[in-house]
Amino acid sequence: MTTAHDHGGDVRLTGISKTYGSFTAVHPLDLTVPQGSFFALLGASGCGKTTTLRMIAGLEEPSTGTVRLGEQDVTALPPYKRPVNTVFQSYALFPHLDIFENVAFGLRRRGIKSVKKQVGEMLDLVQLGEQARRKPHQLSGGQQQRVAVARALINHPKVLLLDEPLGALDLKLRRRMQLELKRIQTEVGITFVHVTHDQEEAMTMADTVAVMNGGRVEQQGTPADLYENPRTTFVANFLGTSNFIGAEVAEVSGDDVILKAGGGKLTLPRARCPAPVTTGGTVLAGVRPEKISLTHADDAGTIPSGRNRITGRITDSSFIGVSTQYVVDSPACEAFEVYAQNIERDSRLVPGADVVLHWNPAHTFGLDAEQSPFAGTTGPAGADKAEEDA
Ligand SMILES: Nc1ncnc2c1ncn2[C@@H]1O[C@H](COP(=O)(O)OP(=O)(O)O)[C@@H](O)[C@H]1O
Ligand SMILES: [Mg+2]
Repeated sequence: MTTAHDHGGDVRLTGISKTYGSFTAVHPLDLTVPQGSFFALLGASGCGKTTTLRMIAGLEEPSTGTVRLGEQDVTALPPYKRPVNTVFQSYALFPHLDIFENVAFGLRRRGIKSVKKQVGEMLDLVQLGEQARRKPHQLSGGQQQRVAVARALINHPKVLLLDEPLGALDLKLRRRMQLELKRIQTEVGITFVHVTHDQEEAMTMADTVAVMNGGRVEQQGTPADLYENPRTTFVANFLGTSNFIGAEVAEVSGDDVILKAGGGKLTLPRARCPAPVTTGGTVLAGVRPEKISLTHADDAGTIPSGRNRITGRITDSSFIGVSTQYVVDSPACEAFEVYAQNIERDSRLVPGADVVLHWNPAHTFGLDAEQSPFAGTTGPAGADKAEEDA
């Protein structure tokens, strides 16, 4: 790990776009991928991730804009002249060559004769030293994908591009490979740009995530920042689950914004509001399901003061082991989702029970009310919205 960040190898996209006829797959976008970082491009199918990646690789010619690697403008360079390698979902290993020769391929093509040491090191890196003399079909999907990574890394690219590389693997193997890829990236220190539609995958692996929507980067940040401080309902819904309460601004008081919603009042930190907030204006107040506590209405008196609270009735509950997920119907928001950690279960909290939902006001975030609360959800309303946007 270097202490001072060296910007000499950043990937810098400036005003880069791609149109196919009258269709815009990628709108002009600016993006900087810091050297040595694990960067994820996250978004639903068709949002322009692969097109963006292919423009970095040189496999697709941008309609506008430039691609820079460090100080070098590579926009006009063919793929093989760029210090970039790509790993695809279909790893396309050479079936007749063994693992060793698959990994050695790039070196041999460049006329390098003594490949043993380098290939050996690469196979150790991906933990396949024992499998060197096997053929691809004798390996599992995860092992084959590791061969594909080794085959790309042996060329010492400055940047490794990965396009849904784990897409063909089953869930358990995918989780293992996520950690494995992250370890490899940390060990070699090369910039990884990883494309995925899986929000958990992006959050697990990446230092920085850029969320794409309809050919645009909607928001970019660390996984925790995107999760805690989404700036749009799309990002809030695409990364996990969010509850949204349509609210009116009653007053701005010091660091707090006091909201009227569903017959009650809620407090929203002013710093977490979309600018500007004005009395009488509207705002969407968001809160994540795991931030909320659920108390039976009979015990409402035990709830500490100073918490945001909303009354409602449980309409559904599902026990999933580590937690119970409740759906609560309330005047402030229908189908409020609440995740309660499974510590001590209150047997009264069943469908039909009257409850109070309450949370620390600091966990409330404000969003511009001029957007659908369903953007980015996978439900029918969200899917409709996504199609409208596309
Ligand atoms: N060669 C092409 N001709 C026309 N449209 C294309 C072409 N390649 C991609 N597209 C369209 O561009 C959009 C973005 O595609 P893509 O970058 O592959 O999305 P993603 O990788 O996020 O699923 C899609 O609507 C796709 O149909
Ligand atoms: Mg794709």
